[in-house]
Amino acid sequence: MKKILVTGGLGYIGSHTVVELINSGYEPIIYDNLSNSKKIVLKRLEDITKRKIKCIIGDIRDKVNLKKTFKEESITAVLHFAGLKSVSESNTKPYEYYDNNLNGTLILVNEMISSGIKHLIFSSSATVYGVPESCPINEKFQTSATNPYGRSKLMVEQCLRDIYNSEKRINISLLRYFNPIGAHESGLIGESPNEVPNNLMPYISQVGVGRLKELSVFGNDYPTKDGTCIRDYIHVVDLARGHISALSYMFKNEKNKIETFNLGTGKGYTVLEMIKEFEKTSKLKIPYKITERRKGDVSECWADPKKSELLLNWKAEFKLETMMRDLWNWQKKNPNGYE
Ligand code: NAD
Ligand code: WQD
Repeated sequence: MKKILVTGGLGYIGSHTVVELINSGYEPIIYDNLSNSKKIVLKRLEDITKRKIKCIIGDIRDKVNLKKTFKEESITAVLHFAGLKSVSESNTKPYEYYDNNLNGTLILVNEMISSGIKHLIFSSSATVYGVPESCPINEKFQTSATNPYGRSKLMVEQCLRDIYNSEKRINISLLRYFNPIGAHESGLIGESPNEVPNNLMPYISQVGVGRLKELSVFGNDYPTKDGTCIRDYIHVVDLARGHISALSYMFKNEKNKIETFNLGTGKGYTVLEMIKEFEKTSKLKIPYKITERRKGDVSECWADPKKSELLLNWKAEFKLETMMRDLWNWQKKNPNGYE
């Protein structure tokens, strides 16, 4: 059974990917420093998969610990989710973002190469498309970034390309996620922000359970059908499965490569449509008010997923209705997240 190291495996996307790895016959080993996750996630993962899962509490910037891990375990591939992800926080703590996301990845890749580990999947983001010239967005679109978080992702992508070009000793997939939402259907794992959520759907579901009073809709004067922004929301389990497809693709291709893939559905929904759909599922009324635009928001951002469909043989399957059902199931069962 191939062993896969999952950095950030106790986090939102990493934990859902651990389940899918086990479902697909891999042996995941989680590596997480608990900076944005809780130990209880491990127990929940073991309940879902009915397996004991190895979990190393460690930081990707800790060379010694990484070296030891790579020496003790014969790891075939690394899925690299670990990092910091808040756009707003990155503006106030840029050092932390570059240190964790950029420096951390460089340390990890260096240790992988010196231990002879050949396959890496990196969690990139649609944020690297900056302000897209049109939608749907394909992988050949120009990239840019407007905040330290986005720049850290873009810099990692560039560094990984340079490292690949210099040695060609490593096979790399850069997966650009659009907007992951929802949760595992069991309701045992899901998104559990430490602070007041920045993202739309966790905010709405916390209003739903009464933790927050009212949603602010950031602007209704965008050039879209109802004036609110359009995004490509993807079920987190579909996203997790995209990693399994990327792994198979990498294992099948003898020659090392570096490839970029969009993981999105190819469909966009406005903020008001998302509120309506959540209300339909939860049978609740979500109070909201229209406020100023949020700085840095783009009017539309949705994927052209054709390249992933063609090369990875992957396609997002879950409908918006299922994303809402699973989000609401998780939030109702865990009104305070993992707290
Ligand atoms: P998350 O915060 O839930 O998970 C990240 C995990 O990494 C956490 O468990 C945290 O404790 C761990 N971690 C952070 N720094 C670490 C370090 N230095 N060493 C070891 N562990 C560390 O985030 P997520 O939503 O699961 O996102 C996973 C990845 O996907 C991130 O790299 C993020 O930037 C990227 N991404 C997320 C989204 C999104 O909307 N959630 C969209 C695009 C890209
Ligand atoms: C979605 C829409 C907001 C909150 C962010 C990151 C991106 C990626 C995914 C990591 C927008 C509106 C939101 C609220 C609102 N993460 N909104 N009220 O901004 O598309 O992407 O998360 O890589 O990098 O930028 O997602 O969920 O924050 O916002 O009206 O309280 O909801 O204006 O139109 P976004 P989001």
